[in-house]
Amino acid sequence: MTVTVIVGTQWGDEGKGKIVDFLAKDFDIVARFQGGNNAGHTVVVNDKKFKLHFIPSGVISGKIAVLGTGMVIEPDAFLKEVKMLEEEGIDTSNIMLSERAHVITEKHKEIDGKDSKIGTTKKGIGPAYADKISRKGIRIIDIIEKYPSIKKFARDTTFEINDAIKNKKNVLIEGAQGTMLDIDHGTYPFVTSSNTIAGGACTGLGIGPTKIDKVIGVAKAYTTRVGEGPFPTELNDEVGKYLLEKGHEFGTTTGRPRRCGWFDAVVAKYAVKINGISELALTKLDVLSGLKKLKIAIGYECNGKVLERMPVNLTNCKPIYEEIDGFEIKDKNKTLEFGYASLPVEARNYIERIEEITKTKVRIISIGPERSDTFIKP
Ligand code: GTP
Ligand code: IMP
Ligand code: MG
Repeated sequence: MTVTVIVGTQWGDEGKGKIVDFLAKDFDIVARFQGGNNAGHTVVVNDKKFKLHFIPSGVISGKIAVLGTGMVIEPDAFLKEVKMLEEEGIDTSNIMLSERAHVITEKHKEIDGKDSKIGTTKKGIGPAYADKISRKGIRIIDIIEKYPSIKKFARDTTFEINDAIKNKKNVLIEGAQGTMLDIDHGTYPFVTSSNTIAGGACTGLGIGPTKIDKVIGVAKAYTTRVGEGPFPTELNDEVGKYLLEKGHEFGTTTGRPRRCGWFDAVVAKYAVKINGISELALTKLDVLSGLKKLKIAIGYECNGKVLERMPVNLTNCKPIYEEIDGFEIKDKNKTLEFGYASLPVEARNYIERIEEITKTKVRIISIGPERSDTFIKP
């Protein structure tokens, strides 16, 4: 029996959807605890691409998929996603939507649509959470009589999850967005409106902290960010363009180009600390393949001061880099067949340097978008 939480260690889009899908086979339930359709998880299985916004990625493997209490839901958009899955032949009878989750209304979308400062996804997320905190929100339980098509998914998911844990089921908890977008711990005010870190899994699902066994952090082998706000390792040059194009870094939800930059180990160390991460999943290593030199930010210079840890305010912080030799993955299939030892030594050096700085082992390595483009590091 295990309760495992998956979180993003950067600014979202680390590939959590892919990693959750890869791990889902060993779990009975996959649950989301925060956010709404601001999230976009892309999962590729046997050349088929699924873009999920509300429903946890485990649904593709036929697992019980829980949309938890901490989420915000736009009913019509949720039903559209259910329909899309049904059209793809996916069983949707295992989807459970918390009766306590809050509803995103047209008004919320209208208000959010006017945002120009944060660069939100304009899905009404912030205004829906604002109404919830102001105790003016509408919950799923309040609308189910009007939306009978929603009613069949509505459950008291708090009891469903806690019963499953009591009955020794394996529960995988899927974070959306990333650590640096957390409302309390991210680059405020350029953040989303929920707690994206592992602690949010407890409040968002109604489970006690003592029930969580493991937290896996998903990190992209470089960094991306969509929307406004500080991003110390951002590259506005040819390398940034290379990462954008080779990594197909366009938002799943909004189609916006993602800002791209080097791996930021200060961000990674911070994420390990505040999420209690015990192992990392490193994605998109293939995208770095072919670059002659790579850089890792190991500290910042902020207003004349050298820092090795995350400051409260990232504005005016410049990265301090360590340079490391690049690598080329010449034969993806060979790498997948023979695993870690068959990676070029420079690629192993890069991964092991990340492990050294973050004091955390990389356990899962992803070198392509397909479920099968993944291997476990011994
Ligand atoms: P949010 O919840 O929105 O933060 O998203 P996410 O963390 O689930 O990531 P998202 O699916 O938005 O972005 C990751 C993108 O990279 C998707 O298009 C994936 O198909 C793709 N991807 C994931 N892993 C790899 C990889 O190892 N290599 C390559 N080339 N693409 C990958
Ligand atoms: P909101 O969540 O739509 O309010 O957007 C707030 C900030 O979070 C913006 O910078 C968005 O681009 C960013 N954001 C929200 N959801 C995601 C996501 O799933 N991936 C990456 N960035 C996101
Ligand atoms: Mg995404």
